[in-house]
Amino acid sequence: MENEHVNSTQPAQRLPVVAIDGPAGAGKSTLAAHLARRFGLLNLESGAMYRALALKAIESDVSFSDEAALTALFATTSIELQPQSEGNRVLLDGHDVTRRVRERDVAEAASQVSVHPQVRAWMVAQQRALGAKGGVVMEGRDIGTKVFPNAEVKIFLDAAPEVRGQRRFLQTGPAQAAVTEESVIAALRERDARDRTRATSPLEAAADAILIDSTHMSFDEVMARSEEVVRQRLELSNAQR
Ligand code: DC
Repeated sequence: MENEHVNSTQPAQRLPVVAIDGPAGAGKSTLAAHLARRFGLLNLESGAMYRALALKAIESDVSFSDEAALTALFATTSIELQPQSEGNRVLLDGHDVTRRVRERDVAEAASQVSVHPQVRAWMVAQQRALGAKGGVVMEGRDIGTKVFPNAEVKIFLDAAPEVRGQRRFLQTGPAQAAVTEESVIAALRERDARDRTRATSPLEAAADAILIDSTHMSFDEVMARSEEVVRQRLELSNAQR
């Protein structure tokens, strides 16, 4: 693993935070896992935390629109992310829910529970604690704008909805009968609209984020461009110390 920027010769140097934001299906998780391996950082998927809380709400029969009832769940809910080379293992109250939280009903529920300010505040506090020492790539919707506004590197990864929907369908859809490409694109559009228009920390690019639109790029091109962005930003932030 190449990690020349992390194992600096200056011992007191803070480890960097790389924030990756963007809409559903843009390829953030794959990119985050790649950059984490490349630069020797921990990869944290903030969306998995919203998904885990959404699963808890499903299992506890709590309405996704009931902010007070969702807030009441916090006291009895523990969510743990365990970074692995290809993504996060997700533990909800000590149980492995990694596969379950990837399912469509949980994704939809996560988008709904994440509109509530108190849910967001609870998540943001935990995410900041996870990245307090730096040395992380965190991906989500509000990492560069809200969770780590001082992140050394911010990337906003986007792609046209049709392309994101098609990629996601090819990854997961054909395996499930009754799932069509059109239905995947329609669900993504609905989730996008909710994530972008919610009042608290809507999905948007930070003013200092580098925008990468992967609509016409291969994933290798996205990875190469992102590595270049990380290198440039880390060099810049080292020079400014
Ligand atoms: O990235 P994902 O698809 O796993 O995220 C699931 C939902 O969680 C997404 O639709 C919106 C919400 N989310 C959020 O509001 N803020 C984040 N930082 C990450 C996810």
